[in-house]
Amino acid sequence: MSSLNRGTVRNADDYYITPHWLIEDFLAAFSESNCFRFDPENYPRVLDPSAGGCEKYPMSYPTVLEQEGFRVESWDIREDSRANLTGVNFLNVPSYESRKYDMIITNPPFFQAQAFAEHALEMVEDGGLVIMLQRLNWLGSQKRKPMWQKLPLAAVYVHSKRPGFDPQKPSKTDSTEYAHFVFCKGYELAPELFVI
Ligand SMILES: C[S@@+](CC[C@H](N)C(=O)[O-])C[C@H]1O[C@@H](n2cnc3c(N)ncnc32)[C@H](O)[C@@H]1O
Repeated sequence: MSSLNRGTVRNADDYYITPHWLIEDFLAAFSESNCFRFDPENYPRVLDPSAGGCEKYPMSYPTVLEQEGFRVESWDIREDSRANLTGVNFLNVPSYESRKYDMIITNPPFFQAQAFAEHALEMVEDGGLVIMLQRLNWLGSQKRKPMWQKLPLAAVYVHSKRPGFDPQKPSKTDSTEYAHFVFCKGYELAPELFVI
């Protein structure tokens, strides 16, 4: 997912590498909130359904979350991913066949972000979390208005520092802002906004 390459296909599976610092910044801010079930002891069932990684680079979310004490199940559609299960199209995994998770977290393929969020919400318990990294303007557009009226968005963590998604060019940042969007199954209050 990178706005720099919007409109062109950089690679078939939309593989980009989320910088670890971006995830660390989010987790540091998110763990200060006591409103959600974010705790490896009591809510340990965590899935990254598009976990990434390749021969050169580790999977970003599982790597950082494991440093925080979580054990993360990882899936990816690419056979050369470092996920526990490769060749898995997340959207084709029936939610009734899947186990239920406490948290599903990822940077999903950009063009399938809504489908990923909706499908992930079917796979978490009530009170469970679905967390997606997306461009901040995911909140906009007429096309997505029905989605925002329907999905249980609980919080938006805006990253004031722009990330880049190419580890070979760490100083090259993306052309837009990003945020971690936190959905909580069954959440009925207005979402909270945080700027990190
Ligand atoms: C934007 S990259 C993010 C990778 C990793 N989550 C990260 O943050 O560094 C999206 C990942 O989704 C995988 N992917 C694309 N379509 C998928 C699908 N339908 N099911 C599972 N994984 C998919 C790609 O192979 C790629 O690794």
